[in-house]
Amino acid sequence: MCGIVGYVGKGNATERLIKGLESLEYRGYDSSGIAVHTGANLVVEKKAGRLAKLREALAERPLRGRCGIGHTRWATHGAATDDNAHPFTSEYSKFAVVHNGIITNYEAIARFLRARGVRLRSETDSEVIAHLIDLYYTGDTLSAICRAVKDLEGSFALGILSVYEENVLYGVRKDSPLIVGKGEKESFLCSDISGISEFCEEVAFLEDDTVVRVTAERTEAYDLMKKKRPLSFRKNSRAERGRETPFFGSHMLSEIREVPRSIEETLAAYPEEAVGRILRGDFDVIALLGCGSAYHAGLVFKTAMREIAGVPVRDCIASEFLTERQTEGERTLFIAVSQSGETADTLQAVRRAKKRGSKVLAICNAPSSSLSRLADETVMTHCGVERAVAATKSYSAQAAVLLRICLQYADIYGKITKEESRLYLEELSRLAEKTEEVIRAEKALEEIAKSLASADALFCLGRGADHCAAKEASLKIKEVSYLFSEAYPSGELKHGTLALMTKGVFALFFSTDPRLAEKNAASVEEVRCRGAQAVVLAAESAAKAIRAERTILLPDTIPAFSPVVSSVAAQLIAYYVAVIRGCDVDRPRNLAKSVTVE
Ligand code: M6R
Repeated sequence: MCGIVGYVGKGNATERLIKGLESLEYRGYDSSGIAVHTGANLVVEKKAGRLAKLREALAERPLRGRCGIGHTRWATHGAATDDNAHPFTSEYSKFAVVHNGIITNYEAIARFLRARGVRLRSETDSEVIAHLIDLYYTGDTLSAICRAVKDLEGSFALGILSVYEENVLYGVRKDSPLIVGKGEKESFLCSDISGISEFCEEVAFLEDDTVVRVTAERTEAYDLMKKKRPLSFRKNSRAERGRETPFFGSHMLSEIREVPRSIEETLAAYPEEAVGRILRGDFDVIALLGCGSAYHAGLVFKTAMREIAGVPVRDCIASEFLTERQTEGERTLFIAVSQSGETADTLQAVRRAKKRGSKVLAICNAPSSSLSRLADETVMTHCGVERAVAATKSYSAQAAVLLRICLQYADIYGKITKEESRLYLEELSRLAEKTEEVIRAEKALEEIAKSLASADALFCLGRGADHCAAKEASLKIKEVSYLFSEAYPSGELKHGTLALMTKGVFALFFSTDPRLAEKNAASVEEVRCRGAQAVVLAAESAAKAIRAERTILLPDTIPAFSPVVSSVAAQLIAYYVAVIRGCDVDRPRNLAKSVTVE
C-alpha cells in the first residue's frame, strides 16, 4: 500500500511530484522516489526513509524534466531500503514503474523473467512489472503495457514512463484507486485527490482494468484489448478537496481538537431522507463492516442498536468476513464504515456483499472514494482531511452519525416513542459540546499520560458501551505510543487476565453507566489489590464508590452514547503518552493511514 503520482506538463516535474508525494505520505513513508524523463533518458532518484531524504538527494542532484512519476512506499514485500524503493526501471531504463497494491503472482513472473536473462535487483513484487513491459515492447508502449497487465494478478494502480515517449504518462488501474487530473496545460495521475487537488480543475476516476495514456492536453482511456473507453471528467469541487485543519504542531493533536466541529458538521449534514429510504428497504438483518477504528465505531452502533432499539446487529471485521463462510443472504443490509473509503479489506467485503445482492450503506469521509462509488448510499462524515495515521475526529464523527442512524431506525420501526426519540436526538445534539468539555481537560489528561507512559503494560477495561470505548482507546495507545495495550470487558478479568495484574501494570477503566458503577468499582479493587495501578475515566454519575490512583470526570450522557465522549479523553491520553515516549505521533512505525492492500 503506497501512494503514486504522475505529472506531465509545462511545469517542473520534480517540484510537482514532490508536492504530490507530500500529500500522499500518509499512505506510507518507508521510502520515496521519483523518475523523470529528461528528454533523453529516464532518471531515477529514490531513498529509504522519509520524504525529507529524497528532497536532500534531489537538492544535491536535481532532476529536470516535464514528465515524471513518483512514489511513497509502505513496505509489503522487501524491507524499507533504497533498492526496494520505487520507481523501478527495466534493463537500460527503457521503462520506469511505480506501483500501489500487490502482485500476487510475482514469483512466477520473476521466474519467467529470469529464464529470459532478466536480472532483478529488488525483493519487491513490483519490479517485475517494468521488466515485463520491456520484454513485450515491440515498438508500441500501449500494447506492451496491455500485454504485461494481462499477466499480472492481484491489485494494482500503476504509473509508467516510457523512454520512447517524452511527454507521455501511462496509468493503469485494477482494484487500487487511480485518478487523472487536468490542470492548465498539465495533467496528473494520483492515488487520491489530495495529492493533486490544488493544481486540477477537473478529475476523472478510473474504472478497473483501464489503461490511460496521458499528455499535458489530453487523456485517452483504453481497456486491456486497446479498445477506447469513455472517461468522464468532472469539476474538482472545493468539497472534494476537504477542509484543512488548523495546525497545532502535530496533526493528531490538531485533529483531536477538531472533534467537536466534526461531530457538529456531520450531524448537521445528515441526509435523513436518503438514509430513511435505505432503512425502510427490504432487509431482515443489519451487519456492520469495517477495520480498525472504523470497526470500533461500528461497535458503538451495535451496542446502541441493542440497548436503544432492542435489535441485534452483526459486526464484521472486514478481513475476517472475507475468509468466513458467508451466512448473510441478500436480505442483509450492510453498513460499511471507512474514513478513507479506500481500505482494501472493507472494499472487498463490500464487493462480496453486493455480489450476494445485499444493499450497502457507507459511512465515509471521502466523497469520491471507491467505497462511496460502490455503495448504494453514502452518509458523509464532515471531518475535513485527516492526516495523522491515528483516526481521531473521523472515529468520533462516525460513531456520532451511526448513533443518528440507530435513532432513525428505532423511530421508523416504532422501537422508541416519539418523546424518547426527541430526548435522544436532543442529547445527540449535545455530544459535540460534551467533547469540547473533555478537550478543556487536556492538562489533566496529560498528567494521566505521564503516569501511564512508563507502564510495563496497559489494560483498557469497561463493560457494555464502555468496552467499545476501551477497545478504541487500546488501539489508539498502542499504535501511536508502542506501549503494550490490550482491551478487555472488565467482567472477563477474573477468567484469566487478572493473572497479569502486577506491579508496573496499569489499568485504564471506563465507567460511564451509573447502573454499572458498583460493578466497575469492584473491578478496580480487584486490579489494585494485586499491585496494578488504576486510572478511571468516569462519567460524573458513574464515579461513585470508585477508588483509583487517578480519576478523571467526564460529562454525563446516555450510556450508549458515551464512547463518543470518553474516547476523546483516550485520544488525548494516547497522544500525550506517545509524546512523552518520544514517538513520531503522526507517523507511527510500520503503519500507514490508508491500507489499500488486503
Ligand atoms: O480508512 P479506514 O477508516 O477504512 O481505515 C481503517 C483503519 O485502517 C483505521 O481506522 C486504523 O485502524 C487507524 N490507524 C486507527 O487509528
